[in-house]
Amino acid sequence: MERTEQLYEGKAKKVFATDNPDYVIVSYKDDATAFNGLKKGTISGKGVINNKMSNLMMQMLEKKGIPTHFVEQIDDRNTVVKKVEIVPLEVIIRNVAAGSFSKKYGVAEGTALLNPTIEFSYKNDDLGDPLINTYHALALGLATKEEIDTITKMAFAVNEAMKEFFKHLNIDLVDFKLEFGRFKGEIVLADEISPDTCRFWEAGTWDTTKHVSLDKDRFRRDLGGVEDAYQEVFKRLTGE
Ligand code: TMP
Repeated sequence: MERTEQLYEGKAKKVFATDNPDYVIVSYKDDATAFNGLKKGTISGKGVINNKMSNLMMQMLEKKGIPTHFVEQIDDRNTVVKKVEIVPLEVIIRNVAAGSFSKKYGVAEGTALLNPTIEFSYKNDDLGDPLINTYHALALGLATKEEIDTITKMAFAVNEAMKEFFKHLNIDLVDFKLEFGRFKGEIVLADEISPDTCRFWEAGTWDTTKHVSLDKDRFRRDLGGVEDAYQEVFKRLTGE
């Protein structure tokens, strides 16, 4: 499939039109940002890893009955996906306290949560993606009640599938962010699933005093070994 004009450039990806109006091509960059673009850098090889890993995750989830935007990988950095209308919500699922949850609620990072949690942020860079509840989302017209119910069910189903999947790779799935889109009247999982959007901790080696991050926290927190962490997750996934 041919890439035609560029439709959009985001922080980590570019989106191109194709000759099929139902499809676009996503092109993954090595650029990394954090804190709403305040911190900028490059993670060498990230685009290739995130592209291939996200595609593997989407295909695994499709097999579990979760509809996704995935169509076909073209090459190392480029993938054909359905042209969805993104629901402007960042959907975050957590299994273990970390990051903003730990800060907001005063819970040490590495505290197991008694049940998985879901939260929604309004996807709006100018506002810094503020946390909202479902009443806010409905009041602002960001999604319908039915869509929010579907998204919630799908997000928890993704969590169950991914937790199990990563357990076999000796990785604990601490939390992650999902985005959903509308395609021909259906809600589908969109965007990406990668070390940019998930917290992956080395299994069995952590408590509330220490953990080994295999994800973008190594970049956010200047922990070093960023490229190696991405490579390590990819190696466990594919053997490559
Ligand atoms: P948080 O603890 O900073 O709220 O992050 C929760 C999860 O969401 C974590 O796995 C990282 C991911 N995330 C993104 O993918 N994009 C973002 O812009 C933010 C803030 C978090």
